[in-house]
Amino acid sequence: MIELSLRRSLLVALTAASSLLLAFPAVAQVDEDAAKLLFKQNECGKCHNPEKAKKGPSLKKIAKDNKGDEKKLIQHLTVSKKVKLDDGTEEDHKVIDSKDQKALGNLAKWILSH
Ligand code: HEC
Repeated sequence: MIELSLRRSLLVALTAASSLLLAFPAVAQVDEDAAKLLFKQNECGKCHNPEKAKKGPSLKKIAKDNKGDEKKLIQHLTVSKKVKLDDGTEEDHKVIDSKDQKALGNLAKWILSH
């Protein structure tokens, strides 16, 4: 009887561990379509281009400057602060209207992948 319940808990533990392992590669991967859509919906492209500097820095430059610091990017995407546009004027940076940490993390990863 004891042995049976021991076996059962071992099985539960193993199942939990393997589902964790399965979950990880999915987390590490960037959902490019979802990121692009969020970027587009929030009109980030008005000021940011993947390659070229527009009113704001290119995504390449942002990726280079932030060196994989996903947390810092998410902070930037969700907390507004004054930024200087390339024409010298200042405005409050756009924040993404989403509390979905997964979507925000995905967008940050996508930006950093440039
Ligand atoms: C009105 C123009 C404008 C819009 C719209 C805009 N940005 Fe920016 N963004 C800027 C400028 C200018 C900077 C540079 C700020 C600085 O260096 O102080 C910047 C900086 C950034 C940075 C880099 C922060 C850092 O510390 O390196 C990220 C990331 C970013 N923007 C993402 C976005 C996203 C995502 C959107 C859409 C929700 C967006 N931006 C919309 C102008 C804009």
